[in-house]
Amino acid sequence: MSQSLAELRQDYSLSVLTKANVDPDPIRQFQRWMREAIAAQLPEPNAMTLATADRTGRPYARVVLLKECDADGFVFFSNYRSDKGRQIAENPHVALVFLWLEVERQVRVEGTVSQISAAESEAYFRCRPRESRLGALASRQSQVVASRQILDQRFEQLAAQYPDDDIPMAYHWGGYRVKPDLLEFWQGRHGRMHDRLRYRPRNEGGWLLERLEP
Ligand SMILES: Cc1cc2nc3c(=O)[nH]c(=O)nc-3n(C[C@H](O)[C@H](O)[C@H](O)COP(=O)(O)O)c2cc1C
Repeated sequence: MSQSLAELRQDYSLSVLTKANVDPDPIRQFQRWMREAIAAQLPEPNAMTLATADRTGRPYARVVLLKECDADGFVFFSNYRSDKGRQIAENPHVALVFLWLEVERQVRVEGTVSQISAAESEAYFRCRPRESRLGALASRQSQVVASRQILDQRFEQLAAQYPDDDIPMAYHWGGYRVKPDLLEFWQGRHGRMHDRLRYRPRNEGGWLLERLEP
């Protein structure tokens, strides 16, 4: 490495976050930031780190793609028999992190996750490109496989078995919806004095909005 990691330093100055300039509804605020991330042409703005934990509390994290976000929550798709699927079955508490570095923003979400209905998953599955549908069917996600060749052969076999567009959705594949109980919006500021605004649900309905120290 030509430059030491300790010397890498970036100052943030693009924007500010105040209680007055955010939406009182955190989902609408998230949708606003997502629209801005898309407009800024960030690469994969819907990529998010998904953290799970198993029944012992051991944490795991990986990136997945957000495919829907509305008042009901944050939806992503995966293999229900993957490692994450097993962890979620043991422990429904998860966390999400979006990093939009080019606009100096991070969003954290915490909540509980559940499988969406097979009909909802099917509706999304039908919209996916042929290759992605075959891939979802071919992959035993998170299992050890002896070679790349085995995977490619399985994919080709399925492609031959389903030459037209009628590829079935595997019953162990589908969506998860995260119902948030905490959202935090982070905007980078000068001198590490960043803005952090956190939403938590109020007992009486609506959301409590608080500023956190950076
Ligand atoms: C940019 C990006 C997007 C990804 N999107 C998904 C996704 O939407 N669903 C998914 O199951 N895996 C996705 N992955 C792969 C996961 O990071 C991970 O390798 C896989 O889900 C297996 O995780 P697990 O073994 O912890 O279950 C994506 C990876 C990257 C880098």
